[in-house]
Order: sequence, then structure tokens, then C-alpha cells
Amino acid sequence: MLQTEESRPTFGSRLGIIFATVGSAIGLGNIWRFPYMLGSNGGAAFLLIYLLCALLLGLPVMMAEFYIGRHSKRNAVGAFKVIAPDKKWSIIGYNGMLAAFFILGFYFVIAGWTLEYVFQALTGSLGDKSAAEFRVEFSNFSSGLFRPILWTLLFIGFTHYIIMTGVKNGIERSSKFLMPLLFVILIALCIRSLTLPGAMTGIDFLFKPDFSKINSSVLLSAMGQAFFSLSVGMGCLITYASYFDVKTHLQRTAFEVTAIDTLVAVLAGIMIFPAVFSFGIEPTAGVELVFITLPNVFSQLPLGALWACFFFLLLAVAALTSTISLHEVVTAYLHEERYITRKRAAVYVSLGVTVLAVLSSLSFGIMKNFTFFGLTFFDLLDYVTTKLMLPFGGMLICIFTGWYIDKNVLKAELTNRGTVPFYLFRLYRFLLKYIAPVAIALIFLNELGFVNFLKSL
Ligand code: PHE
Repeated sequence: MLQTEESRPTFGSRLGIIFATVGSAIGLGNIWRFPYMLGSNGGAAFLLIYLLCALLLGLPVMMAEFYIGRHSKRNAVGAFKVIAPDKKWSIIGYNGMLAAFFILGFYFVIAGWTLEYVFQALTGSLGDKSAAEFRVEFSNFSSGLFRPILWTLLFIGFTHYIIMTGVKNGIERSSKFLMPLLFVILIALCIRSLTLPGAMTGIDFLFKPDFSKINSSVLLSAMGQAFFSLSVGMGCLITYASYFDVKTHLQRTAFEVTAIDTLVAVLAGIMIFPAVFSFGIEPTAGVELVFITLPNVFSQLPLGALWACFFFLLLAVAALTSTISLHEVVTAYLHEERYITRKRAAVYVSLGVTVLAVLSSLSFGIMKNFTFFGLTFFDLLDYVTTKLMLPFGGMLICIFTGWYIDKNVLKAELTNRGTVPFYLFRLYRFLLKYIAPVAIALIFLNELGFVNFLKSL
């Protein structure tokens, strides 16, 4: 059945809104992707640029997405059709929807890995091994044919089930205590990691920037990571904000989500890097960094298997609240704009994503040498989404909201019709109109070689 304007669901309480949005933001991006990106991009300098990008680009884009979503009460594509009769703006929505689909295509693989680790912890096979042994185990597992794919399929199944049965409420309610629990475990693991021998080398790596390490690729990686981690640039938060009610304080919600998400990423760094250096693991290890480092930390804890089990279970839940939000972007679009039932829309999305996810998983094993532009299928999906589609979408969202939308309309929405103040509105609009699009464009052009090209003229 299609929804009418009135029957469109909304999120219940203020906390429900925050938790759903934080649930989308916090996920593998913070705990798996952030440390490995930081490790491969020179350490503290990356952190600094990441923080700047989150504050100066991610936060403004998030607020703009909130405006677009709540103002239009539509999915990522429909929103632009409602607000801007000029058709070309819907390209932002299409770009975002496609990005969501591609992200799911690699995200589900890593999400599947978290389940394998829960399983290993439960069956006691994680155990007490040397760092080198953990690494071999991981590589045997991830390059395998069936096992990783089975976990991935299971994860797709969970996500599909929740999207179909609409037990989102249950997920929101349970994430209200599961996410704080993840936070507590994260802090405990930070403490354990910080008290390992040689931990300070890791802290230096994380917090003492070496500015000579900054180059165009570090800039683009940090910007892409900020967008990815905050779930912005692809309409996910447009879709969620379309379920917000009129009283939701958009500015405050955006601040809180950005702050919590960034804090979790930094904590993940504090949990991983002291251990990386203490166990002699290469910070540049790449996608496997977290999966080979954490088992070492658990093996140094009393009841290590229990910790491991809890941690990976909570990480899986964090990933689940993110996959739900990604799936919802595409499902809501198909349902509302293509007029197919929600159930059928969800089935199409899940099936399509399964194909991508299986190929991504195989690209760690038998399809390893099957590369495009030197990237495996998994890396290609990651690159195209985080480094191209999200920043591109973010840039267009800034231009759209800054230049196309009437400033009084924008202000009215962001201040709930004048009932809450927005002291920095002029600065905000200046950021949207000039700073953010120019900064994103420069980072793009720099990485794509245009700046060097100009210099050489
Ligand atoms: N922000 C999520 C994470 O950090 C991933 C995500 C990206 C979710 C884009 C929705 C949209 O894991």
C-alpha cells in the first residue's frame, strides 16, 4: 500500500530521532574504516584534517540535508522534485541513492566479518595467538569462498527483515542501551590498550601531526572519511529527516550527532593505535587493521573471549543500524517514486546488493587479481562512493541549499519557524555558499591533478 502524506511514519520521541540518526552515523565507518584510513594516511595529520572536514563540511551538509528532508517530507530523490520544480536538482538524489546501493555492496562484507568474529569468540577459536598467527587466520578466512559470503548473506537477511517488518522501533529502542554499552566497552578497551607496553608510540602517531605527510590524496581521503562517517552527501539524512516532526531541533540534532560520531572515531583510534605499535602490527595494514589488532588486545584481557564476543556483537548492531539507513534510502525511493510496494522495493534492493556484496567478498580471494584501474571490486566500490560520490553530493547539496533556496525559507525551517534561535545563520549560509563548495572542489581538483596541471602551464 502506498503511503499518503498523513500516514507517512515519523520518529517518535526526541531520543528516538537522535538514536536513529546516531545509529546511522556510528558504524563500521568509525571503528573499522577510520583507524585503517588514518593508519594508511600518515596518522595525526589525517586526524586533524578529518576533524576540520567534519566540522566545516560535514556538519553544514548535515544541517542542509535535515532542512531538505523535513521541509519536503520525501525520499532523497522526491525531496528535490518537491522543493525544486527544476528537474535537474534531482541528480543529487539519484547520485545519493546510487551511492547508498554501492556502499551497501562493500559494507555488508565487513559487517559479515564482525559476525565471524562473534562466532569465533563464542566457540573459543579466537584464543591466545601471536600477532602473526591472528593475521594468517584472518587472511585465510577473508580469502575463503563460502564462509565470508555466508556471514554476509546473513547480514543482508537481517537488514532485509528489519526493513520489511518495520521493527525499526524495536531497533531504535534496543539501540538506546546497546549503543551506550558499545561506548562503555570502547572506553574499557582504550584503557587496556593505553596500558600496553609501548603504547605511547601509538598515541604519538595518532596525535602528533607530521605536516609533511599531507598531500592531495590524504586530503581527499580525510574528507571522504568525514562524509562517510557522518552519513552525509548521499541523502540518507534527507530520508531520515523526512520522518522528523516539526518540533525536532535540527541544529542541535546535527551538532549532537556530529560530536558523538567524531568522539567515537577518536576513541576507536585510541583503542587501536597503542595496540598496533605494542604488538608490532603495521599501521598501514589496510582493511584488516582492526580485525588483526583487536584479537591481540582481547587476548591480553581476563575473560578475553567474553569481551571479544560482546564487542563484535555490539559492532554488528552498530553496523546494522547503518545498513538499515542505507537500505532505507533506496527502498523509500523505489516505493515512493516508482510506486511499487515497500515489500517488493525491499526485495529488489536486497537482491541487487547481494550480487555486489558477493563480488566484493570474492575480491579478497579468487577475484583478487581482477582489478579495475588497479583497484579490486571491493576497493572500487569504496573509492567511487567515499571519494567521489559523497563529496560530489555534498558539494551539490551546499550549492543547492546556499544558492537556490530562499534564505528566509531556510532560516524558518532551521529555527522551527522562529521558535529556536540560530545566531550564526549568516556564517552558516556563507559556509554553504562559498567555503564548503570551493573547498570540496579544490580538494577534488587537486587530487585529480588539475592543480599541478595549472602550475605546469
Ligand atoms: N556512517 C556509517 C558508518 O560510519 C556508514 C554510512 C554511510 C551510513 C553513509 C549511511 C550513509 O558506518
